[in-house]
Amino acid sequence: ANTHSSRDEKLKNICQLLQDHIEYYNWVGFYFRNGDKEELVLGPYVGAETDHTVIPFGKGICGQVAVSNQNFVVPDVKAQDNYIACSLTVKSEIVVPLFVNGVNIGQIDIDSHVLDPFTAADERFLEFVNQEVAQLF
Ligand code: SME
Repeated sequence: ANTHSSRDEKLKNICQLLQDHIEYYNWVGFYFRNGDKEELVLGPYVGAETDHTVIPFGKGICGQVAVSNQNFVVPDVKAQDNYIACSLTVKSEIVVPLFVNGVNIGQIDIDSHVLDPFTAADERFLEFVNQEVAQLF
């Protein structure tokens, strides 16, 4: 029973660490599939509060990754039509799915105030982070 809160604490610490150490990671959070529903719910995060605590599959960058099982790098959010704006200061975004035993259970989502900051190195790094995170499940 304590595993859940301690897992959430660990996830929040990971968010905080990433935001503290990578200057262009301005909002860092996890979304998780809500049981059998085709929607994501916001988990631990750091950064500006967001109204988007529930995101239907297919909606926005997050909802698209829930369906595609692929990383989604958005160099410029203004160029996306299926995008959910959380804050006007956000210029770019990266979402990397989180797999547990091959199943996409959620994702790490990072927003940046910088235009086009994310490279393949961010993708590899966040895939690694998610592999570590998967072991908490
Ligand atoms: N921009 C995301 C919504 C989540 S906020 O970035 C925290 C999207 O388009 O799915």
